[in-house]
Parts: sequence; C-alpha cells; structure tokens
Amino acid sequence: MPAGFQQLGGETVTGTLALSVFTAVLGSLEFGYNIGVINAPQRIIEEDYNSTWAHRYGRPIPAGSLTSLWSLSVAIFSLGGMLSSFCVGFVSEWLGRRKALLINNLLAFGGGSLMGLSKLCRSFEMMILGRFVIGAYCGLASGLTPMYVGEIAPTGLRGALGTLHQLAIVTGILIAQILGLRQLLGTEDLWPVLMGLTVVPTVLQMALLPFCPESPRFLFIVRCQEHQAKRGLRRLTGRQEVGDLLAEMKEEKRRMDLERKVSIPELFRSPVHRQPIIISILLQLSQQLSGINAIFYYSTNIFTKAGVQSPVFATIGAGIVNCAFTVVSLFLVERMGRRTLHMLGLGGMCVCAVLMTVALSFLDTVPAMSYVSMLSIFGFVAFFEVGPGPIPWFFVAELFSQGPRPAAVAVAGCSNWTANFVVGMGFQYVAELCGPYVFLIFAALLLFFLIFTFFRVPETRGKTFDQIATDFNRGSPDTMMGLDMELNKTNTEMDYLGDESMD
Ligand SMILES: *[C@@H]1O[C@H](CO)[C@@H](O)[C@H](O)[C@H]1NC(C)=O
Repeated sequence: MPAGFQQLGGETVTGTLALSVFTAVLGSLEFGYNIGVINAPQRIIEEDYNSTWAHRYGRPIPAGSLTSLWSLSVAIFSLGGMLSSFCVGFVSEWLGRRKALLINNLLAFGGGSLMGLSKLCRSFEMMILGRFVIGAYCGLASGLTPMYVGEIAPTGLRGALGTLHQLAIVTGILIAQILGLRQLLGTEDLWPVLMGLTVVPTVLQMALLPFCPESPRFLFIVRCQEHQAKRGLRRLTGRQEVGDLLAEMKEEKRRMDLERKVSIPELFRSPVHRQPIIISILLQLSQQLSGINAIFYYSTNIFTKAGVQSPVFATIGAGIVNCAFTVVSLFLVERMGRRTLHMLGLGGMCVCAVLMTVALSFLDTVPAMSYVSMLSIFGFVAFFEVGPGPIPWFFVAELFSQGPRPAAVAVAGCSNWTANFVVGMGFQYVAELCGPYVFLIFAALLLFFLIFTFFRVPETRGKTFDQIATDFNRGSPDTMMGLDMELNKTNTEMDYLGDESMD
C-alpha cells in the first residue's frame, strides 16, 4: 500500500478523493450555516428593521409588519432553494458537475454580500433578497454536492462519504449557533459580520475546486470522454489499472443507450421509474415532515416553555448531539444498511415525539418533566441523524441510473424544499392551535413514514447502480407486494456477496 493512503471498508481513500469530497461538502457546510444563522440573532435584527423603518418613515414599525418582514426573511430562503433545486439536473448536465459547483459560488458571494451590507445600506430589502439568493445557492448545492460525491465515491464507500454531506450541514448549523451567541457575533454591531461570514467557505471552495477531478462517471457516460474519465479514475483510486470500474460504467452506459434520457413527466408516467420516484419523494418528505426544523427553528422557545434553566445552551447542546450522531451514522451506514437505519431513526423519533408531548403536558404537576422533555428533544435529534437526516440525500442518487438521475434528483430536491417551506411557515400557527400536542402530529407522520419504509423501500447497501436498477425492473407495479418480498430475498444474497467482496 503506498504511503499516505488510508484503507477504509476495503476501499482506498486517496488524497485526491479526500480533497474532492472535502471541497464539495464545503457547500453543505454553507448550507447548514445559513439554516442556523438566522435563529439566534432574530431579536437583534428585528430591532434593526425597526430602526430602519423609523429612519425612513419617522415612526416605529407596526408589530404586524415586523412579523411579516421577519417571516419573509426566514422563509424566502426555502423559496430560493425550491426554485434552484429544480435547475440542478439541467445545470449539472450543461456545465458538468465541477463547473456547476464553481459557478454556483457566485450566488453565495452575491447573497452573502447583500446580507452583510444590508445594515450599512439601511435596507431590509437587501437582507431579504440576500436570503433568497443564498437560498438559491443552497438549493443547487444540496443537489450538486451529493451527486458529485456519490459519483466519485467507490461503491463500498458511497454511503459513508454520502453521510459527510449531512455531517457538514450539521457542523454548519452548530457553527452558526455558536457564533450567533451574544458573547460572540450575535450583537447589534456584529450581526452583519455573522451574515457575511458565509462567503468564507465560498472562497475556499473556489480556490480548491480547480485541483479536483471532474466526475469520471459524468465524463464517461454523459460526455463520452473515455480518456479523461480514465485519468480521473486513476487520480481518485490511486491505481493504474481501472479497467473494472470502467467496465462497470460501460455496462451502465450500454443500458442507458437502451433506455435513453428521461424527463420529469416521464419519471411519473413510466412504470419502471414510478415506484423509485415515489420512494424518493416520500423519503425526502419523511426528512422534513419529521418536525426536525421545528426543533431547529424554535428549540430555544420550546426549552424556555419547558422550564429548562439556560435554553440557549440547551439549543447548542442539541446542536452537539446532532453532530455526534451524524458521526455515529457515518460508521453505521455501511454496516447496517440504509433501510434498517432509516426505520430505526423514524421509530426512535416517533417515540421521542410522544415522550416530549407527555413531558410537556405534565410539566405543571411534575417539575422533573423539564429534564424528560430536554432529553426527549436530544433523543429526537439523535435519531434524526441516524436515519432520516443523511439517508434521503444519497438514496435518490442510488435508486436511479445516469439516464433518469438528474430528473429524479431535481424532483426529490424540490419536494424536500417544498416540505421545508411548509414546516417553516406553518409550525408556529399549528403550535398556537395545538399547544403541547403539536408534536403528536409529527409522531403520526413519522409512524406513517415508518410503515411506508417497511413495505416499500428496498436496501441499496453494497450494490452497484446497475444491480439496484435491475431489482426494480424485475417487478411490474401491479405486483409490488411480490416485488418487495423478492427484493428482501435478493437483499440477503447481495448483503452476503457485498460483505464477501469487502474483505
Ligand atoms: C420599535 O422601536 C421603538 C423604539 O425605538 C419601540 O418603542 C417599539 O416597541 C419597537 N417596535 C417593535 C415592534 O419592536
């Protein structure tokens, strides 16, 4: 084994592979940062909106207008993401994965500058526009990053490296939560710096991307550039002999030439793709409708209501649990399989949601319940990162071969952002209506997604794109139950084969 190369799961992690994955997930870090960043300094920025309003119109802002302006600043992020996630397929085909990642940074630069300079220019319009633009960046990044990472990763490491996307997101959220503390950047004067810091990973990514190879799978299958693809594979694997990998891609390309490119409407019409696309959409919905963002947007508020001593630090505690369990899932995902982990995560979250509801409703009679509610929120976050957090992001890329993948990634991304928008906008109203019982709604949704996963979602661990596609194509939609049973049987065989080939 050459010096400086690490063995992991029977696959070699070369310097180039590590650098490329690191560079790509800088986009995910930025994505997480912008999810978490508006949470802590909310009151301070609202005061600035107020004084800007007073400066312009000579009177303080009406409370209703302030609420709408702030909600717009928060929610327009998802709107930007929703629109741009729809372009992921088109942009990644047109520019290639690497150049698309590079160009996308212009959006981050624009968005970060608009937000960072909005106080200086006394303009909340700039802040809102900046949130929209940075949302558009995040929408593209949330599609491009898993796509690029999934394509350059060797089969045995696809799951583990795919989880790094999620790890970078939660790290970004945690960094934003910590920097947003009053003692650091969460002050009246420094909040523009907090917003503007988002350009730092952008600059780093732009500097590093020229040293990363373009996805060989893209070069070979979409652009038909065998020579360049081979060179990329050699750099990524550190081997001179890449014939086996090329053969696998050739096989996929051969099948693609037979199946031709698939558009978004065709995904839903074709009986071959309908089941995988429904699975992809529901997995994305299971991530957002689990209620995780209700925790991340309003945890401080929930902790305060639950009588926890220092709610801000409890929120940071949840952020740390979030990171820790993402690491745990990194090690679990290649051992236990995606389907098992997703079900474990959904089930655990469901139990924690019920526990949280019980704790919150007995708060007045039993004071110790504030600890139970805090622990159940930590548990809720931990189980999220075991399954529903990381898995939907790379599951889509695994369910589809190159032909339908860009369309599928776009549809899945769009449904994720739509659900994100719905939860972000709706939670506060529903919470006012239902009081402590609001999390029972999420518990019911989680139970539904758990049952769906049990009956409909196949295992993809240790399989090539080709094997997964073959599994789906073997059954017709009217015999889905039969297909499930057959898939389970095939899984056992494949798991066995997969384990053997890893030794
Ligand atoms: C706006 O600022 C004024 C004083 O500067 C304050 O009295 C008023 O409550 C603030 N309005 C809101 C909605 O915070």
